[in-house]
Amino acid sequence: MGLAKTGIMALAGLFLMATTAFADGDAAKGEGVFKKCKACHKIGEGAKNATGPLLNNVIGRVAGTVDGYSYKPSMVAAGAAGLIWTEELVADYLEDPKAFLRAFLNDPAASTKMTLKLKKEDDREDVAAYLATLSAAATPASD
Ligand code: HEC
Repeated sequence: MGLAKTGIMALAGLFLMATTAFADGDAAKGEGVFKKCKACHKIGEGAKNATGPLLNNVIGRVAGTVDGYSYKPSMVAAGAAGLIWTEELVADYLEDPKAFLRAFLNDPAASTKMTLKLKKEDDREDVAAYLATLSAAATPASD
């Protein structure tokens, strides 16, 4: 009986966690996840554009606007249409970059140079939280 009660309380706790702030990614774990991004993206002091754009300050930035990086037109169009990266949006984008842009632009022909897809939701949230730690404009997680 005690066990059943504990179980119910634990479930209630999980439910609460799921319904409060989205931005519950673990930045420390996200740093590990970022290894998957390093083939194409540089981040941190002195980082430069590479295969992909520089990711310093990406949270809070208008999509497709890093100086000197040559984006695909769809990414620039998304920025022009009002896409500003938040942790949530980066996490969504990482699930399937092409599908994300197609949905955002409502354009079935939209495309992107970024081919990586991150399947695990935790990985996506963690890496987005990590990016936020390297973004001056990121607001602290809150609901
Ligand atoms: C195979 C290379 C590659 C990998 C791996 C990769 N990216 Fe990208 N990423 C790109 C390219 C190329 C672009 C530019 C897309 C375009 O112009 O269509 C991009 C764009 C982005 C953008 C939009 C940036 C902006 O300035 O608007 C974000 C955010 C991003 N990547 C995050 C990540 C994260 C986080 C990871 C790791 C989980 C990752 N990427 C892995 C190549 C990559």
